[in-house]
Amino acid sequence: MTTTFPPGFLWGAATAAYQVEGAAREDGRTDSIWDTFCRTPGRVLGGDTGDVASDHYHRRADDVRLMAGLGLGAYRFSVSWPRVQPTGRGPVSQRGLDFYRALADDLLVHGITPVLTLYHWDLPQELEDAGGWPERTTAHRFADYAHLVGQALGDRVPWWITLNEPWCSAFLGYAAGIHAPGRTDDEAALRAAHHLNLAHGLAAQAVRAAVPGRPQVAVALNAGAVRARTDSPEDADAARRVDALATRIFTGPMLHGAYPADLFADTAALTDWSFVRDGDTDVIRHPLDALGVNYYAPMLVSAADGKAPPRPAGPGRSPWPATEGVTFHQPPGRRTAMDWAVDPTGLYDLLTRFTREAPGLPLLVTENGAAYDDKPGADGAVHDPERIAYLHAHLESVLRALADGADVRGYFLWSLLDNFEWAYGYSKRFGMVYVDYATQARTLKSSARWYAELIRTGRLPQ
Ligand code: NOJ
Repeated sequence: MTTTFPPGFLWGAATAAYQVEGAAREDGRTDSIWDTFCRTPGRVLGGDTGDVASDHYHRRADDVRLMAGLGLGAYRFSVSWPRVQPTGRGPVSQRGLDFYRALADDLLVHGITPVLTLYHWDLPQELEDAGGWPERTTAHRFADYAHLVGQALGDRVPWWITLNEPWCSAFLGYAAGIHAPGRTDDEAALRAAHHLNLAHGLAAQAVRAAVPGRPQVAVALNAGAVRARTDSPEDADAARRVDALATRIFTGPMLHGAYPADLFADTAALTDWSFVRDGDTDVIRHPLDALGVNYYAPMLVSAADGKAPPRPAGPGRSPWPATEGVTFHQPPGRRTAMDWAVDPTGLYDLLTRFTREAPGLPLLVTENGAAYDDKPGADGAVHDPERIAYLHAHLESVLRALADGADVRGYFLWSLLDNFEWAYGYSKRFGMVYVDYATQARTLKSSARWYAELIRTGRLPQ
C-alpha cells in the first residue's frame, strides 16, 4: 500500500471558539450555554471555565504564524454565535465579526485555507432560555445567524461546516446532562436532534444564498464505530440500536432524506416524533460537498444480561435513551488519557462505510487526535511519542480507506493547541502545541514537528 497522500490533500488542524478564544466578556460577547454551565458548581472539573482558555482571541496573529510555521494547509475554527450575534437574534456585533475577518485574512496571507464551523456547542444563553434546541424556532434562529456570517465572511471563507457533532449537543447536553445546558430529558434530546438536523439543512441553504460563488458545505459528525461483542443476533441488535442513535439519526435524513424506521420503533415509548413536520427531511437532505467525520475511539456493546437497572434521573446518566437492553463495554487494548481505546480500524470502517452509503461523496476527517498527560521535560521540550503513534496509526487507516476507494480530501488534527476540554476543563491536553496556562506560552510538542514533516513530504514515515 502506498504511504503517500494524494496531491492537494488538505492538511489541517482544528479548534473551537469556546475551547481556545477566552475573552468571554469582550467586544459585546454575551453568555453562551457553556458560560452558564461552567459557572454552575460541580459541572466542570476543577471549576474551570473558558473565560481565558488559550487566549487565542488576543494571540490570533501569533497563532496563525505558528500554523504557518508548521506548514498547515487548512485551519478549522468555529465562530462563537454570542460573539457575532449577542442575543441570538437580531443585530450583529461588528467587533465580533471583525475578529473572524481578521483571522480569515491572516490565514489567507499565509496560504492557509479557512474552514469555518458555524456551531461548536456555544448556543447563546438567551436562546436556551427560550427553550434551546428542543424548540423548532432555534433552528430558524440558526439559519438567520448562518446567513449573517455567510454575508460577512463569504468573500474569504471557502469551506463551511454547519454543525460540529450534533450528537453531543443533543445527547450529552439534553439527555445525560454532562454538557451544557445540562438537562436530563430523553424526549427533549430527541427533539433537539431533529431540530439540529433541521438547523443543518436551513443553514446549508442560508450559506449557499449568502456566500458568493460556490461555497463548500459540510457537517462534522461523530459517527459511531459501533461493534457488537459477539456475532449473536442479540448483540448485533444492541449494536444496531446504538448505531441508530449515534449515526443514522443524522445520516438518515442528511444523506437519504428519511429517519430510519428502526429508530422510530426503538424510541416509540419516549416520543411519537410528531415534531418532524412534512417537508423537514427534504430541507435536511441538502446536497453536501463533503461529509466530515470526527473519530477518536470505537464503541463495544452487547445485549444486557438480565434485567436492566432503572434509568437514573440526574446528570451523569447514560446519554443513550431507549437502550435499556444494551451494555456498553470498554474495548480492549491501549487507552488515551481520556480512557478512550486506541483503535484506528474504527476510522477505516467509518470512511469505507460512508463511501458505500453515499457513493461519490467526498469525505473529510474533520477531527482526530488524542489526549495524553504531556509535560515539559527538564530541557523544556514536550515529548509525546504516544500521540505520534496514535496519529500514525490513524493516518494509516486513512491511506487504507483511500486505497479502497474512499474519496478522503483532508485530515484535521484535533487540536492545534491544548485547550478547554469541556467537562474535563484544562485537565486533558489534545494539542500538538503545549500551552502553559500560567503564561500562555506555546511550545511545539514533538508531534507538531512530526506532523509538519508529514505535511512537507506528503508521506507517512514507515
Ligand atoms: C470532539 C469535539 O468536537 C471537540 O470539541 C473535543 O474537544 C474533542 N472531541 C475531544 O474530546
